[in-house]
Amino acid sequence: METVDRLKFVRSALYVPASNGRALEKALGLAADMIIVDLEDAVPEDAKAQARGAALAYAKSGVGNRLLAIRANVYDSPHHADDVAALKDCAADFVVLPKVEDISEISDFGVPVLAMVETPAGLFNARSIAGHPRVAGLIAGINDIAAQTGIRPGPKREGLELSLQMIVLAASEFGKPRFDGVCNRLDDLDGYDAECRQGATFGFTGKTLIHPNQIASANAAFGPSAAAIAEAEELIAASRGGAQRFKGRMIESMHVEEAKLTIERSRHAMGDVIG
Ligand code: COA
Ligand code: MG
Repeated sequence: METVDRLKFVRSALYVPASNGRALEKALGLAADMIIVDLEDAVPEDAKAQARGAALAYAKSGVGNRLLAIRANVYDSPHHADDVAALKDCAADFVVLPKVEDISEISDFGVPVLAMVETPAGLFNARSIAGHPRVAGLIAGINDIAAQTGIRPGPKREGLELSLQMIVLAASEFGKPRFDGVCNRLDDLDGYDAECRQGATFGFTGKTLIHPNQIASANAAFGPSAAAIAEAEELIAASRGGAQRFKGRMIESMHVEEAKLTIERSRHAMGDVIG
């Protein structure tokens, strides 16, 4: 299967600072479906060049069955030009571009791009960004959206709903995957678990993460449960085409298609297999 097609089955995308060798190594034993090696916010200014070298070497040595992305520095940063030159045709599956606001910022890396939408301009242009042929999917950058707009998300992310759904709608128009933003709260695993399920409810196909203890909830929320798989199989078997009653609700052919997708998703779990 093509790399871009595998992206739609990614439930958990773990950021790892490129400057943290210990965490890079550790990530190879974790059940995240995708690793995003970060050159941007997680890396101190004086470590940028070294981090870039480490990220490229890491990509070259391979990350098993997972997908690998490298996050470049933002378009107007002094490091961006060096990133573009170094990441061209790199061994990673994707390049993540932060704070994309306009399609003119999307360089040709030779590998597909995951565009982060994390500013008001990015949100209003999310549709053209998502439709760009080099863009394979969108990632929500919640911390930056909050910082730039004055939104102070409530415990259930009240205030952020419109921004999050603009990202989902833009990506889904083009049938492209979309990843929910990170949860900064490292010790509130119950709240985090609810946030994962909320992201799936909103229509995200996976979530970006910052810590190993966030992987299991994302894999559970964005992957079909055993019950959902069983129900999908039952629905397909029961379907006769057209409208009919199934377990007290109406189903039509679109529900059969949805059920087939559920089964397909269950077959492509990546992190669990090697975790
Ligand atoms: N990827 C892989 N391993 C990670 C990890 C990550 N993102 N975060 C932590 N770990 C590892 C640690 O190396 C440690 O392993 P060890 O005990 O075997 O050495 C273990 O998980 C526990 O880590 P912990 O002590 O709980 O984390 P911390 O307090 O040292 O670090 C953070 C907390 C937030 C600084 C760290 O998790 C991190 O850097 N996350 C990614 C940040 C990032 O990339 N941000 C940019 C995108 S928003
Ligand atoms: Mg950011």
